[in-house]
Amino acid sequence: MPDLSRREFLGAATGVAAGAMLGSPTVGHAAPAVHVRPPARPVAVGSANGLRGVELAGRLVREGMDTLDAAIEGVKLQELDPDDMSVGYGGLPNEAGVVQLDASCMHGPTRRAGAVGALEGIKTPSVVAKYVLLYTDHILLVGEGAKQFALSYGFLEENLLTEQSRERWLRWRANRGPDDDWLDVPETAQMGLRPTGTINLNVVSPKGELSSVTTTSGLAWKIPGRVGDSPIIGAGQYCDNDVGAAGSTGRGESNLKVCGAFLTVEHMRRGLAPTDACLETLRRVVATSEARLLDPRGRPQFQLSFYAVNKEGQFGAAALYPTRFAVFDGTAAAIRDAAHLFERS
Ligand code: GLY
Repeated sequence: MPDLSRREFLGAATGVAAGAMLGSPTVGHAAPAVHVRPPARPVAVGSANGLRGVELAGRLVREGMDTLDAAIEGVKLQELDPDDMSVGYGGLPNEAGVVQLDASCMHGPTRRAGAVGALEGIKTPSVVAKYVLLYTDHILLVGEGAKQFALSYGFLEENLLTEQSRERWLRWRANRGPDDDWLDVPETAQMGLRPTGTINLNVVSPKGELSSVTTTSGLAWKIPGRVGDSPIIGAGQYCDNDVGAAGSTGRGESNLKVCGAFLTVEHMRRGLAPTDACLETLRRVVATSEARLLDPRGRPQFQLSFYAVNKEGQFGAAALYPTRFAVFDGTAAAIRDAAHLFERS
């Protein structure tokens, strides 16, 4: 037990004994603690659109910033970027042309969580999620309530639909189906592929403190009110300060059914390396996929990716199909190939 102090050890032992005396069911089912050596330098890992974000988060943690604050500074770069049409300002809208944003975060050292779903008019849902974490006894606020909460803290209500996103929405609406009343716009039709996009970012500091955040505009052209995996603690992201942090991008509905971020952290808890933990979660995703989502060879007809870092600073990512991820390894930020389960045909 190299990192378990005598006081911690006695405390843990006393807790078990007390639990046994009281017949407490929770002690018997408590997840085993993992005691590890934290990394020498901060590590940040996330989706490929987070290259700038992992670099900023890693650098800020190196300068002493808290891991959650740093992770949110990292994803805010994408939330405020009108050219990232999968996150925050400029995100692709729902079926009705309204941008609805989802985000969640967890802070390992304090074991707190916050989230917002279907939030309209606020550019930085990750920061609103952090305010839920900091200032309320709740975890998830949605819709109009989430917006009023944000406004009460001085967030500005703004139009999040950029000209670029509105154009994409109008084209989708025009080409939606042969029986609708909209005339087709064939030359640049985007039928078939429904853009998804999200940013997930997970950070560990040299003290072994972990945090995670995920933020998204969700599935483009979604039914109004649809909330994906990103604002759901345990699906879009999850962080356990004893073990590691993980998060996801891609088809949220498929992740929601397996609580994929939580599952990935649990795989790491039982000793899997981050990449293997992500792959194991993806195998569960395939096993729980409905037949309508699989091709004749049983392969998913969608993409889903997981990113993970453990308390020691080991990191990894995996997806159903080849993709890339961003990492700050303590020295520099880079894009790397993720592991994958299937080759594209
Ligand atoms: N993973 C993002 C979403 O499905 O909304």
